[in-house]
Amino acid sequence: MPPPQGLQLDRVVLLGRTYDEYVRFFGLTEKAMRGLKILDAAAGVSSFTAEARQRGLNATAFDRIYEMPAGAIEKQSSRDLDEVARNIGDKSVYRWGFYKSPQGMRSYRARAAETFLKDFQSHSQHYVPGSLPSAPFADGQFDLTLVSYLLFVYEDQLTFDFHKQSLRELLRVSREIRIYPTVTFEAHPSTFLDLLRNDADFRDCSFVEVTTDFEFLRNSNRFLKVTRHAPPAARHYRASRSITSAFPAEGGCLGL
Ligand SMILES: C[S@@+](CC[C@H](N)C(=O)[O-])C[C@H]1O[C@@H](n2cnc3c(N)ncnc32)[C@H](O)[C@@H]1O
Repeated sequence: MPPPQGLQLDRVVLLGRTYDEYVRFFGLTEKAMRGLKILDAAAGVSSFTAEARQRGLNATAFDRIYEMPAGAIEKQSSRDLDEVARNIGDKSVYRWGFYKSPQGMRSYRARAAETFLKDFQSHSQHYVPGSLPSAPFADGQFDLTLVSYLLFVYEDQLTFDFHKQSLRELLRVSREIRIYPTVTFEAHPSTFLDLLRNDADFRDCSFVEVTTDFEFLRNSNRFLKVTRHAPPAARHYRASRSITSAFPAEGGCLGL
């Protein structure tokens, strides 16, 4: 086996991305998100929810760490950021066009964590504690769920069953799921993606990989979009706000 080229992580690290990064990862626009109920699953110290709400969007964050006090979250995330920033610079699987340097990447992550921590303390109602593969929400509570840097990328640590149950559960609470990235930390396509796509338990779903123009981890210029087919009786029902009309056509760069 060739030696590893990517980050060697022995746990899921507590790093956060900003709203601006999420918009690029998931091919989103503020206009497309307006009026939707959005769940950021495994949101951690991302500032997506805080920044989305500042823009008047309806976002909720969900993560197992929200049981912890803010001070403990801050300590762990700053330790994880130190470790990643120290080790990432010589890894050949990254393209530095966007962040420019480990220091540039670090300042995005630090800004995300700082914005998150302030909002977590002042608007705790937007941060729901819980652990996948369960999600403490009602059926169909959300229009869109985003999962950034948990599923697929950690496939060496999280089992196929965990992926399957988590995705099924997120499809229970949301009409559409977007997952980014679809590669591992070695920048290889996750082996779980095709297994899920071909699994009989997802016969009622469509899996589409959508290309974007954002690539940091090599081959990560795409996200996975999973939607449930409407049951036959519901096909004539006209939703007041349809995601397909809210988002630009699949498969292309969204001009971000
Ligand atoms: C690398 S961070 C990504 C955070 C955020 N999505 C982002 O991209 O900025 C991974 C997050 O997954 C969370 N996590 C790990 N296992 C989880 C589980 N079983 N249920 C919910 N969250 C989990 C961790 O607490 C951590 O916050």
